[in-house]
Amino acid sequence: MSNGPTDPGPVSIADRTGTAPSGRGFGVDVGGSGVKGGIVDLATGELIGERHKIETPQPSTPQAVAETVRAIVDHFDWTGDVGITLPCVVTGGVARTAANVDRAWIGTDAGALFAEHLGGRNVTVLNDADAAGIAEDKFGGGRDTKGVVILLTFGTGIGSAILQNGVLLPNTELGHMEVDGKEAEHRAASRIKEENDLSYKQWAKEVSRVLERIEDLFWPDLFIAGGGISRKAEKWIPLLTNRTPVQPATLRNTAGIVGAALASTSRVAP
Ligand code: BGC
Repeated sequence: MSNGPTDPGPVSIADRTGTAPSGRGFGVDVGGSGVKGGIVDLATGELIGERHKIETPQPSTPQAVAETVRAIVDHFDWTGDVGITLPCVVTGGVARTAANVDRAWIGTDAGALFAEHLGGRNVTVLNDADAAGIAEDKFGGGRDTKGVVILLTFGTGIGSAILQNGVLLPNTELGHMEVDGKEAEHRAASRIKEENDLSYKQWAKEVSRVLERIEDLFWPDLFIAGGGISRKAEKWIPLLTNRTPVQPATLRNTAGIVGAALASTSRVAP
């Protein structure tokens, strides 16, 4: 969703990087522990320069998070449009759920709130896993796959994104799907592995159970596994017993930022 007038101003960093303004976007990824942002080369999906991270304020109220987002945007002197992810269902710019973030987000018009903190420029707000899915599908593991790609992010919860031939079905919440009497994310989020000190073998069994349920219902051509634990993919992806191929995310910790930047340009509408 876009709010406020389009910011026409040139972006000062363009001169430093020499990249055409039209080829760049800005994404902010709001997570449970960190708020991360950066300038994105929209043609390659790579960050231009370093990403900037600030710890997520606690409690992670809308006001506090909006101030953090502004600090990140200001850090880069970015004056253009901004895409922002939230770990929430987001419809028409309004956050509808808040599973792993302050409950005050529920019902908050995030689009309007961020626009107000960012001087009225255009902002696009979307679910964090949807942003990662858009980015991985375009630049990462999904780019050569025709058909249905499902990205799952394993972290504090499980986020999901379903894309068919590059088009996103927004706000799927497969992490909350019940699998054998328990929510998928209560079985197989990476937080569960840590909290219960599960081995990769024990945890992979739970992940397989979740993937098997999803593939029986959606028949994807490819799963992409994201989240921090995808960095150790070789330790657990070979242990999975489901039938659909599973590839680790390739953009790793920048997928949310890149997807948010893409969404902000409407090149890939959420
Ligand atoms: C939320 C999703 C989010 C995921 C990852 C889940 O608990 O319901 O909206 O994408 O966590 O942050």
